[in-house]
Amino acid sequence: MATTLITGGTVVSATGRANADVLVDGERIVAVLEPGSELLGTDLKSGVDTVIDATGKYVIPGGIDAHTHMELPFGGTAAIDTFETGTRAAAYGGTTSIVDFAVQRYGERVQDGLDAWHAKAAGECAIDYGFHQIIGGVDADAIAAMKTLPDQGVTSFKLFMAYPGVFYSDDAQVLKAMQVSRDTGMLTMMHAENGPAIDVLAEQLIEEGKTDPYFHGIARAWQMEEEATHRAIMLANLTGAPLYVVHVSAKQAVEQLAWARDKGQNVFGETCPQYLYLSLEEQLGASSEEWGNFEGAKWVCSTPLRSREEGHQDAMWQALRTNDLQMVSTDHCPFCMKDQKELGLGDFRKIPNGIGSIEHRMDLMYQGVVTGEITLERWVELTSTTPARMFGMYGQKGVIQPGADADIVVYDPNGHTSIGLGKTHHMAMDHSAWEGYEIDGHVDTVLSRGKVIVDDNAYLGAKGDGRFIKRGLTQYLV
Ligand code: URP
Ligand code: ZN
Ligand code: ZN
Ligand code: ZN
Repeated sequence: MATTLITGGTVVSATGRANADVLVDGERIVAVLEPGSELLGTDLKSGVDTVIDATGKYVIPGGIDAHTHMELPFGGTAAIDTFETGTRAAAYGGTTSIVDFAVQRYGERVQDGLDAWHAKAAGECAIDYGFHQIIGGVDADAIAAMKTLPDQGVTSFKLFMAYPGVFYSDDAQVLKAMQVSRDTGMLTMMHAENGPAIDVLAEQLIEEGKTDPYFHGIARAWQMEEEATHRAIMLANLTGAPLYVVHVSAKQAVEQLAWARDKGQNVFGETCPQYLYLSLEEQLGASSEEWGNFEGAKWVCSTPLRSREEGHQDAMWQALRTNDLQMVSTDHCPFCMKDQKELGLGDFRKIPNGIGSIEHRMDLMYQGVVTGEITLERWVELTSTTPARMFGMYGQKGVIQPGADADIVVYDPNGHTSIGLGKTHHMAMDHSAWEGYEIDGHVDTVLSRGKVIVDDNAYLGAKGDGRFIKRGLTQYLV
């Protein structure tokens, strides 16, 4: 087995930083050593196959993006990144594991949905991957099938209080699924928005001729997120299910999470880079020469981008500092403008929902370190260590320690990254939701289970490098 020494860098974990050398043997980390340590009386460097000089750089556990949607069918089309293109883009950006959502829709069998996702991903991925299961139709068959998922390494499922007629579960279905969560220890992941009420508001807006993407954000009002978040919390409280609320964007929804957490309930939440940086006014309300007011379609996602005047973005950063929100995922769900987002010209309800960011999450969150919003250690915790613990992978992933998979990123704080189509963009979309973003920092080298898959902006991996991660139960409960 090949050995690699990453030398001279600052190893950063969720709890601290130290100048240390990291020794990798084959796929695993075997030692974290004081700089200049010797092995069998000789300089370590002379005995290893490859030396990576990380002087002046951070050595961090590879990013884990626990919320992605490769090839998700949505709104009559499908997310444009395949497992091949999406995971390669992730690798370029310093992400070495994803957890994607297998889909069961109403009337379909859960196991068929999971099998279909395995078939899409197997042999295609650049990095390791796990699955959550979307349950789009909670019935007796689905409940029986859900109980078999933990043994298959799928230890979390997502329900939707939004999208009536597509993935929607009513309160009775949510309650029944949460009872499975309580009984099995699986984590209930919730898309918390009041879908039926949103659909009424959206229809009324369309009838008033308010058809632009901006009104997607008006229809999906923060009250609808706060209300659904509260309802999910109370149903979880009643059943005893551990609850993880996905893509939180409203400051009032965070207040609900904080309230429940302060009482000791097992309630967790993630936000996404778009809810930290982008807004209703600037992005959903954007116009351009090419697209007119339809420009905002690039940023149509649910939950929606929120008003900066109302202070939601600041509240998300604050919640990341106070641990009212525990992690940052992308909700990577990319659609092109041409032929995909375009489906909603004249009716914002028909714009496929989703933004693509999988390649930029580590850089965008590092920018929060540069601006002083979060510490270096918190960056690692939010993007790698907590995702590993939350979703039952910690020890194998999310940490630089002996025995862990050698998923490692060498990050250069003095480097620079320009984001946008034709710059760092390797995702399949025909536009970038992050056009023009400039990052003080750079992903220099990426190792996935000991293999260098990205170095100096060059991709050195191959499709099929990535393996399925059989996850355990969450390691994050209070
Ligand atoms: O707009 C979004 N978030 N699209 C992906 C599906 C989901 O609800 O996560
Ligand atoms: Zn969702
Ligand atoms: Zn999603
Ligand atoms: Zn560099």
